[in-house]
Amino acid sequence: MKITVLTLFPEMFTALNHSIVARAQAEKQIELETINFRDFSANRHGRVDDAPYGGGAGMLLTPQPIFDAVASLPEAKRRIIALTPTGRRFDQRLAEEWSEETELVFLCGHYEGFDQRIHDELVTDEVSLGDFVLTGGELAAMTMIDATVRLLPDVLGKSASHEEDSFSTGLLEYPHYTRPANFRGLMVPDVLLSGNHARIETWRRQQSLKRTFERRPDLLEHVVLSASDRQYLQS
Ligand code: ADE
Repeated sequence: MKITVLTLFPEMFTALNHSIVARAQAEKQIELETINFRDFSANRHGRVDDAPYGGGAGMLLTPQPIFDAVASLPEAKRRIIALTPTGRRFDQRLAEEWSEETELVFLCGHYEGFDQRIHDELVTDEVSLGDFVLTGGELAAMTMIDATVRLLPDVLGKSASHEEDSFSTGLLEYPHYTRPANFRGLMVPDVLLSGNHARIETWRRQQSLKRTFERRPDLLEHVVLSASDRQYLQS
């Protein structure tokens, strides 16, 4: 997968030169390129922003540098993703969808955002990290890149399957425990030490249901619940 980021702060993306995303780059599962769109500004001072027509607070990113930066990219079937708090909220399902693409382009906004013509003419996806406002799109883009790249085939090792991730099942994940079974008197639940796989599966499913019910009841509306799931939730 080719990932291109248009940003005024390319140095921030060195955060992706660590851990699993770094390995995905080293092993050529992804190619990550950052482009400073200020380099495309036709203004001799390298300006990329201007005041909004109609007045109001803040500055907007002007169309010219971003149109020219996008025009400089090789033609390809690609998604052009604008990071903006007014976009669709990013989630695991969108990460899964993007992980099937061959090329993603991220446009990182600053100030009050982009001139609308950038959205209208260039952008295929307007996406928000959540219902809060960041100082720029970079941290949002990095988060989305991380969530997408870990879903690519062979990026996580075989033992670290993402099939049971929180959200992949529509539910939050159940609690996990590792050795020792007794840590300073804090015990691992007996069922996990029982060796009874059917009981363990049932316990995990019920813990996922319980957590989701307590913390994110909104998620339950989209999950197909079995009869025994319903019975458990009503108990
Ligand atoms: N830029 C500023 N706030 C943002 C958000 N919540 N998501 C994506 N990009 C942003």
